[in-house]
Amino acid sequence: MRKLLPILALVLFAVALVLPLSEPQTVEGQTATEALTTDMDAKTDDLFNGFGVKGTPIDECVNEPEPPTARGNGRFEDNKFIFSERETIEDGLGPTYNDVGCVECHQSVDVGAFGQQMEFRAGHITNGAFVDAPGGQLVHARATDARIVEHISTAETVKAFRITLSTLGDGFVECLANAALQNNVAAQPLAQRGTLTQVPVTEANNTLRIGRFGWKAQHASLVSFSGDAYLNEMGITNPFDGFGGRSSSAPDAGTHENPASTADGVVNVTFPSPFDPVEDPEDDGLDVLAFADFMAATRAPRRGPITAAVTRGDSLFNSVGCAVCHTRTFVTAAPGTLINGGAFAVPAALGNKIIHPFSDFALHNVGTGDGIVQNAGQATANQLRTPPLWGIRARNRLMHEGLNITIFDSIQLHAGQGTAARNNFNALTASQRNDLIAFVLSL
Ligand code: HEC
Ligand code: HEC
Repeated sequence: MRKLLPILALVLFAVALVLPLSEPQTVEGQTATEALTTDMDAKTDDLFNGFGVKGTPIDECVNEPEPPTARGNGRFEDNKFIFSERETIEDGLGPTYNDVGCVECHQSVDVGAFGQQMEFRAGHITNGAFVDAPGGQLVHARATDARIVEHISTAETVKAFRITLSTLGDGFVECLANAALQNNVAAQPLAQRGTLTQVPVTEANNTLRIGRFGWKAQHASLVSFSGDAYLNEMGITNPFDGFGGRSSSAPDAGTHENPASTADGVVNVTFPSPFDPVEDPEDDGLDVLAFADFMAATRAPRRGPITAAVTRGDSLFNSVGCAVCHTRTFVTAAPGTLINGGAFAVPAALGNKIIHPFSDFALHNVGTGDGIVQNAGQATANQLRTPPLWGIRARNRLMHEGLNITIFDSIQLHAGQGTAARNNFNALTASQRNDLIAFVLSL
């Protein structure tokens, strides 16, 4: 063995010299391979991408699901079960909340994916700057007590709905190096260039990383997003819920439920108020790891049938300029790379993988801006993240408010940085436009 090592080192050196020239898809000397994909058929059992152990489906009469104690050391089926659980008041649900479980919204066409549920955000403008509505910009739809159902006044003039995003394949997105996103944006023409934002990673002491999840790219890690969602969608406090879960600018936000904005003013609803019987944190953080690991272990959406029209539309998507922002291809960081502010090492199942998200994960002003500021400053008020188009054939509520049903209408709404692409699309012949739409609906 000993004698072989220097030879091996020489060979590896030689390979490393040659590879970057001959193989454009190599990362640090290792050949990247296509990420595993799911057929997006809820009837087939093909969601698991190999990150961690799969385990067996949980039957509660036989055994309770066990969450991971650190990222990657749990079982996929247990994590999926925990993602699908419905919480109760005794578990800490509410006092204000949007729904009772992750899967209530992330469910179609399979666990983790899409839903028609919308959250609602509101605030107002003071001296030209966006300010959260009293009690926080996220105005929950539900409460556990009629007295604290949230109401806003007409003073809150900036209002926006946000439709549910699919999380399938998000483990690959988490494993994109900052540099991959930066290089991509740097290659965009100035007029269309996206803005990348630095956002705090909760599990790494708020170390900054480039945001990529959410309509405002407000999170960079799946643990941070899950901690935020557990608090803000369900009202369950946890060690990863962050600085208000990016839904409030109050310094102590995130250490307790957001106060409720009621007709009688802002009401503190957190423990030990009469509205909340459960001490904080209501979850010890392990559920959050289960959510994050479940999503990280899902495969990327697979393409639908490639018809002749789809093939014709494929090249039009580039020539018209859609692919500038809806970036076709990325390669994830090499296995072992430390990401998320050092809190997570890219696992083998997710590293060096070629993905086709059709997003640059950057913010753009395409004229649809909702005016809401989360954690990337006032300049981002009217910017939105380019939504990944992978899996769009299985979604039919489009654009951030979910008020569009057709691809055609969604394209017509592209103004601002999207104006040129929209005009180019409209200049195509009717059959070319149909081909381009067929292509989008094959993603
Ligand atoms: C009431 C419906 C609802 C519930 C419940 C819900 N979500 Fe979401 N989810 C949404 C909406 C709406 C968005 C888009 C929010 C935004 O960006 O402002 C979203 C976005 C996400 C994203 C970002 C996906 C991406 O690729 O950008 C992740 C991750 C996520 N949710 C995880 C969770 C987890 C984990 C839970 C359970 C703790 C959960 N969600 C519960 C509605 C919901
Ligand atoms: C300048 C960047 C940019 C360009 C160019 C661009 N888009 Fe978009 N696209 C966006 C952004 C940002 C959004 C989200 C806007 C919103 O939700 O208000 C979006 C949203 C969409 C959506 C809705 C997706 C969803 O999940 O709701 C579709 C479909 C879409 N774009 C297709 C296209 C097509 C087709 C083209 C070419 C004709 C194109 N886009 C060009 C940035 C761009």
